[in-house]
Amino acid sequence: MHTELQNLRERIQTCQLCPLSRTRAHAVPGEGPENPSVMLIGEAPGRNEDEQGKPFCGAAGKKLDELLTHAGVARQEVFITSMVKCRPPENRLPTLEEASTCKSHYLFPQMHVLKPKMIGLMGKVAIEHVLGENISLTQMHGKTLEKNNQTYMILYHPAAMIYNQALKQTMMEDFKELGKWIEKK
Ligand code: URA
Repeated sequence: MHTELQNLRERIQTCQLCPLSRTRAHAVPGEGPENPSVMLIGEAPGRNEDEQGKPFCGAAGKKLDELLTHAGVARQEVFITSMVKCRPPENRLPTLEEASTCKSHYLFPQMHVLKPKMIGLMGKVAIEHVLGENISLTQMHGKTLEKNNQTYMILYHPAAMIYNQALKQTMMEDFKELGKWIEKK
């Protein structure tokens, strides 16, 4: 594995920079290829992810798999991670401080090393913390935008499908758009 990526992975797994480190079982650095066309960023690990140290391996992960399959994308083709790498207790929202710490030490460095063509920001937490602005998901989902020489796509979080079945069709269409950014060999 790319040494910088591996180095980040190890630092995330042993991180003690914020209070989430005291309640987590495992930090979840993320997984995927070293040169992905697409990187996906969610919110934070949940119970299953915390237990296994793997991203999106619980209920939201099943929905993500469904969306990727529909888009004709193999999960192994994309790099999947979350805004914060440790589970917040009771799945509460990460605090501004937790998100800022994780972002500057781990998420932005991961983005820098991976250099994806497209970053899919899945849900409000990733959108707000990565872009530093409040963007309407209802108006912007499925759309791309450029910031600091990086292309982003605004996406609903896969878990939104669990709570709102009516979003499924829309989300499948958005992921199809995302799939177009994957370079097929
Ligand atoms: N939700 C996320 O945002 N990330 C995970 O890894 C799992 C659920």
